[in-house]
Amino acid sequence: MASDTQILGSYSAEPQKEFPTSEPCVMLIFGASGDLTKRLLVPALYNLACDGLLSPNFAIIGTAFDSLTTESFRARMNEDILKFHTRPKFDQQVWDNLVSRFHYVQGGFADMNVYETLKTEVATLNTKYDCKGNVLFYFATAPKFFGMICDNLHASGFKAGEGWKRIIVEKPFGTDLQSALKLNSEVLANWNENQIYRVDHYLGKETVQNLLAFRFSNGMYEPLWNKNYIDNIQFNVSEEVDVGDRGGYYDSSGVLRDMMQNHMFQMLAYLCMEVPGSFESDAIRNEKAKLLQAVRAYSKEEVAKYVVRGQYGPKLDDKGEVAKKGYRQEKDVPADSKTETYAAARFHIDNWRWEGVPIYLRSGKSLWKRGTEIVVQFKKAPQVIFRGTKIDRVGANRLIFHIQPIQGIEMQFNAKIPGPLLTLQPVHMRFGYGEAFKASRYTGYEVMIYSCSLGDATLFSRGDLVEAAWKVAQPLMDYWKETPADFPNYERGSWGPKAASDLIVRDGRRWFEVVTEDFLKKIALFKDGDPLFLSQVLMALRPKLIQAGDLVIKKGEMGREMYVLVRGEVEVLDDAGHVLKSLKDGDFFGEIGVLMSTPRTANVKAKTGCDLFVLDKADFSRILRDHPQFAAGVIAIAKERYNLTINADSLTTPH
Ligand code: BG6
Repeated sequence: MASDTQILGSYSAEPQKEFPTSEPCVMLIFGASGDLTKRLLVPALYNLACDGLLSPNFAIIGTAFDSLTTESFRARMNEDILKFHTRPKFDQQVWDNLVSRFHYVQGGFADMNVYETLKTEVATLNTKYDCKGNVLFYFATAPKFFGMICDNLHASGFKAGEGWKRIIVEKPFGTDLQSALKLNSEVLANWNENQIYRVDHYLGKETVQNLLAFRFSNGMYEPLWNKNYIDNIQFNVSEEVDVGDRGGYYDSSGVLRDMMQNHMFQMLAYLCMEVPGSFESDAIRNEKAKLLQAVRAYSKEEVAKYVVRGQYGPKLDDKGEVAKKGYRQEKDVPADSKTETYAAARFHIDNWRWEGVPIYLRSGKSLWKRGTEIVVQFKKAPQVIFRGTKIDRVGANRLIFHIQPIQGIEMQFNAKIPGPLLTLQPVHMRFGYGEAFKASRYTGYEVMIYSCSLGDATLFSRGDLVEAAWKVAQPLMDYWKETPADFPNYERGSWGPKAASDLIVRDGRRWFEVVTEDFLKKIALFKDGDPLFLSQVLMALRPKLIQAGDLVIKKGEMGREMYVLVRGEVEVLDDAGHVLKSLKDGDFFGEIGVLMSTPRTANVKAKTGCDLFVLDKADFSRILRDHPQFAAGVIAIAKERYNLTINADSLTTPH
């Protein structure tokens, strides 16, 4: 019988005695010879078995066109599991028991004879392992087969008999609104909505599931969770990887279909939905669907105003030659492709809770780092209270959900710097999953298979939610199809297109970049800093994108900030415009003016587009005051670089 058990907990490395096992079933995987099965499904089943969560009444039948037998399928899995399991130690006994239940039937998805063979095999295994007639169909195939497999299963009588019959469908569910509607109608022609489990693997991530647990189990934040207290919310999914071998698929998709319409909208729904009446699956899914239905579907003018797209170009070496190829040079990608590998958007949620609160989303491939995070920025405290003090800027509080690879939650706030004067410094409190829980690494698919077997659909998308998500994405796709694209418009390994930065800067805000200590240590200026020093620098850095030709520093102006060049090239120029020096990735500049409170001694111009971090003088001086040993290092660098003798006092005076 289906259970309503909710799976929001983190599984420990020990067998989970307090949880029931999955329900007995035969799992029939269509497309079993593909990547998904070996990389994710089988390691997930193995994890469940190790943790005592997989029913002993369980068997698998894999089916695909590849000519394998049960023996060769098992042999292949025996090799693959060693590569893809996620546990610190491999348990041979658990694996041997699991793999002995694997079976394979070769054949095409259109061939009705194959379904007859599958039926006989399911019946045999059902009897052998006492699976109570329950069958879990897993569609690990291209979406074009979904409707056909549903029909053929129905026509072959798979729905009959005792026990439950459920279908897990992989993404993408449709490629646009129309195809999603069609697919829904095909799948639902012979099956009920409560038998269809549409996977979004982001919902299998502990850190994503924790969004709901965090919101609704902590009384502290929910009262603030609205337009009265929140200034803006940012969802960021940066990927360092390029499209690799997936150019063929990716070119017909693009980041909007590949990441935003599904994974990011799921996170958006969790973070912004109304409080559900209970944790029942439909109570949660109703609220998620309602939220996505409230996201404004843009007119053409609004797409032009609120959405930016990008495509990565090659990374050039010092001689201006291609060091790493751009998207249009990737395998199976047309040389004039208009597919976006990056998108940034400001969305509006037109409901009572969020009216007027900008919701920013951005995601892309081949960016400078991998990182998924959600930043909830609260409205600032009134500055006026600090009139007459040394405090000229009060930073906003932020709540940051680190989804991956950092997994945790961080709260940023202001604290008084110890001492007789009233001065503030942004500080943070952090919770890290690894420090709080003894959990083994999961693939994310464990919870999907487990909860589906228990009949809990909370973590799966319902048809109405998928359609609502496509309704928001569709106008963007339509507009992009009609308008020319200025591609490529960002360099591989950069922060993305300048237009994405402009999109948010125009609103008087900026993207919040999560920078790690490891990254800072790559920069000569900071490489010897201790953790306390580095954490203060991290809190103070402000990202800035500039274009080739922009003047970053103008000779004669007072220096109020220094710059760390993350990517790109700038030139230091004399009055006549001669290049005195050229600076590249990892260099810093503008520190003399900041260190000595003197006018700028040269012009600095961007030779290429650049990604920069800006450090304000006030912050830099404050940090140096706290870390005199580091101040000595800075003085030494300035002496070596410019033959300057700096008085240590001038370093630590903020104005
Ligand atoms: C997949 C996309 O759904 O998600 C990929 O097709 C993307 O292009 C991947 O790289 C990202 O998943 P994760 O779990 O690595 O963030």
